[in-house]
Amino acid sequence: MEYKNFIHGEWVGAKSKEKFENRNPANWDEVVGLFPRSGSEDVDEAVASAEAAFKKWRLVPAPKRAEIIFRAGEILRKNKEEIARDMTREMGKVLQETRGDTQEGIDTAYYAAGEGRRMFGDTAPAELPNKFAMSVRQPIGVCGIISPWNFPMAIPTWKIFPALVCGNSVVFKPASDTPLTAVKFVEVLAEAGLPAGVINLVHGTGSGVGTPLIEHPKVKLISFTGSSAVGRQIASFCGKTLKRVSLELGGKNAQIVMDDANLELAVEGALWGAFGTTGQRCTATSRIILHEKIKDRFLSMFLERVGKLKLGNGLDSSVDVGPLVNKAQREQIHSYVEIGKKDGAKLVAGGRAYEEGDCKKGWFYEPTVFDEVLPKMRIAQEEIFGPVVSVLKAGNLSQAIELLNDSSYGLSSSIYTNNVNSAFAAIRDIEAGITYVNGPTIGAEVHLPFGGVKDTGNGHRESGPAVLDVFTEWKSVYVDFSGRLQKAQIDNVAIE
Ligand code: UN1
Repeated sequence: MEYKNFIHGEWVGAKSKEKFENRNPANWDEVVGLFPRSGSEDVDEAVASAEAAFKKWRLVPAPKRAEIIFRAGEILRKNKEEIARDMTREMGKVLQETRGDTQEGIDTAYYAAGEGRRMFGDTAPAELPNKFAMSVRQPIGVCGIISPWNFPMAIPTWKIFPALVCGNSVVFKPASDTPLTAVKFVEVLAEAGLPAGVINLVHGTGSGVGTPLIEHPKVKLISFTGSSAVGRQIASFCGKTLKRVSLELGGKNAQIVMDDANLELAVEGALWGAFGTTGQRCTATSRIILHEKIKDRFLSMFLERVGKLKLGNGLDSSVDVGPLVNKAQREQIHSYVEIGKKDGAKLVAGGRAYEEGDCKKGWFYEPTVFDEVLPKMRIAQEEIFGPVVSVLKAGNLSQAIELLNDSSYGLSSSIYTNNVNSAFAAIRDIEAGITYVNGPTIGAEVHLPFGGVKDTGNGHRESGPAVLDVFTEWKSVYVDFSGRLQKAQIDNVAIE
């Protein structure tokens, strides 16, 4: 099956006529589809299309723009099962999770559609008589959206629905590991009635499509989710050109388990946080910080459950953990396992590629646990983005929080405790954009801000009302109805 780019409301191939293959990571013999390998000339067309469409789209009343987004949510709901199955085929995570990923897109559609009748600004009293003051949100223009493969529906919708409801137009470059979900999403937007040119889709690599998109002078904003290394490059280019840029980058998320925690619940949470999505979430639990009093008990309960996780094709409902997305990821994860061993951490589960039975032709990797990890080891500091979790030990709450904060990242975090005082101290002192109490590090809801501190981003948030600050500019408006020239700060007459 061959798929295309979407430019000015039409499905078109790359100008070069080149293509790339998308293969199923659970069975590399299966080709999911062929996609255009686009280049800067395709980006130029998409940007021209988006620029022309922006002129009209910005004038469509926001509640009307929102109706189209609401309809897109309805179509996503109708197509949910088909989208989820295709998503599992192209990136591997299990069906219940690809359904969840699609649901996150549906939730975002309804939330963003509601924003069409809010998008509130402020009114403020003016300091001069017979004068009115207010601030309004205005769209920015053509937005370049660059999204990762781990949430192929949720993350594009987090960016694109808010961008559209705010009146912007979009050029969308999805990860080259998940182009099919992107096609499905754009088909939904077209079916919902989005005018031609408001959304444009260009497939290809980061250097082939991402770089020309970022560098295009008519692209006014870049929204990127991916690694901190690439985020830094994008930010430095956007810094030089003063282009607005919103970055959601890496994480090294930790779950603290205190001695007063419900251990069954904490084990369940750690299992889901560390090995859900095969550990390929930026919110994945990558470190478990255990109070020394419960460490041994927790670890033996945890390892027993890890040993029972079933690996396999995500379409099989008895499977818990799907494959990694591709060969390079598997190599990268295995290299971290080697580093962990070399640095002296104790491998207590996994640590190898998994090649049993039907898994021979997929990028499977055993759920892996390291004990006796020290805070400065590389496996405790660097984002691994796979099913590898490090166990660290703390003597008390403040030590646990200190360990958690000993990271260059600050996305998600979690504490399991039944002590309300410990919970609130953790909420106050943990350096992260998200803190869960008695829940795992994964599972953010779409109507709250999503994002992190430190190297996790550049201060912006997706989701929730905060995302409007990414996709709009503020305009302050003063209306003087005095009929004369009034001078702010100068007509500063004392009250009689
Ligand atoms: C990501 O890992 O890139 O909070 C996004 C969560 C999901 C989104 C994760 N709702 O785990």
